[in-house]
Amino acid sequence: MRASDETLRELMYANPEAIDPEEHIIAVYSVEGPHPLQRIAEEIAIECSTGTWTPVGYETLEVRGKYGAKILRIMGSGGSGFVEIAYNASNYDPEIGGIANLLSDIAGNLFDMNIVDKVKLVDIRLPSHWARAHPGPKFGIEGVRGLAGAEGGRPLIGTIMKPNLGLDTKAYAKLAYETALGGLDFIKDDEALVNPKYCPLFDRLSAVMEALDRAREETGKKVLYALNITHRADGILELADRAIEGGANHLMVCVTYAGYGAIQALAEDPSINVPIHVHRCGHGAFTRDPKHGIESALMSKLARMCGADELHVGSKTGKFVFDALDARKCITAMRGPLHGFKRTLPVIAAGVSPVNLRENLEVAGRDALFLAGGGVHGHPDGSTAGARAMMQAAEALVKGISLEEAAKSHRELARALEWGGRPSA
Ligand code: 6PG
Repeated sequence: MRASDETLRELMYANPEAIDPEEHIIAVYSVEGPHPLQRIAEEIAIECSTGTWTPVGYETLEVRGKYGAKILRIMGSGGSGFVEIAYNASNYDPEIGGIANLLSDIAGNLFDMNIVDKVKLVDIRLPSHWARAHPGPKFGIEGVRGLAGAEGGRPLIGTIMKPNLGLDTKAYAKLAYETALGGLDFIKDDEALVNPKYCPLFDRLSAVMEALDRAREETGKKVLYALNITHRADGILELADRAIEGGANHLMVCVTYAGYGAIQALAEDPSINVPIHVHRCGHGAFTRDPKHGIESALMSKLARMCGADELHVGSKTGKFVFDALDARKCITAMRGPLHGFKRTLPVIAAGVSPVNLRENLEVAGRDALFLAGGGVHGHPDGSTAGARAMMQAAEALVKGISLEEAAKSHRELARALEWGGRPSA
């Protein structure tokens, strides 16, 4: 039987109480458009499940009733508000297709639909069998703290190597050595740096690890180095294995373009026995418009499910857009309860320096990694002094001592305060 438009429509609504959350994926969208919310919700529900622009012969009542999306709630007025939609979980397989398949449908074509001017996927609730099909972080906050020797609740301190690009292997390793002498916890490649001819990935890895070993002999402090292995899907595991064989103690991946699947593949592979530092550069294309795209806290949640041990949040003091509520939501997605997964370490980066560490600590608290690029390497006395100044600032703030007071007995911090390093607003 070919179903009429009207009969098919009736099947698109369900009482939220009647929906089993273990058998549905429930999504909340904020929407804005020139049409009544009900019409927008229906078009989204159809596009993101069984239907197309016209009833088709084989979209029977049974198909629509069973596999079509169900509108649970519509909140708002005119063409502006929120819609909650339940998708039948059996339309998707968490093992084959997984998040890539799910997002292709429920966060896919709807962004291009004429019926809405703006649509933002705010959150999704997944059944527990979806959570179980994902690894979550292998190390999490406690694991990373242990590896860095940063137990006792102090903030973790690190740097992004600067300049981002342009140093050859020798110069890069020299800079890593000088920075590590400053006693910080963590050094990472910039997102731009993977494998330029003048500083190839594996040469850089061995040169930096050797430099960090030398620094450790002098300071006694282990420094983690996140090697940027952002790469295409078919090669990232092999690259990671080779990096670990070459001595890598940390890996970094830019998730927005490498994909959640890249993080998941690394986290699920037992031979990848080092933490995964996840950069979110490019997320702004999805998240920056408050009314269109995907909420950053949801992207953070998905990255955690897939195995991000560390994940960027932004910073209060940098050159990038910062929204305090958005940051809090991201941090909750990383550190709050989530299907029993280990906690992801929030990474506060961009414009961070000893001078403004306090403001950034207010954003994330101590269970976070604070990365300063220019704030370390722009120190007037160089990168060793810059790294020391960051550690001195962190120590003072944890002890409740003002930076000015601490600077009286810490030269590097005093010089940083004189310098005043922070990006202009
Ligand atoms: C990173 C950084 C990066 C940012 C700057 C920050 O972790 O690679 O967050 O995305 O653009 O490199 O550098 P500053 O500390 O100098 O602002």
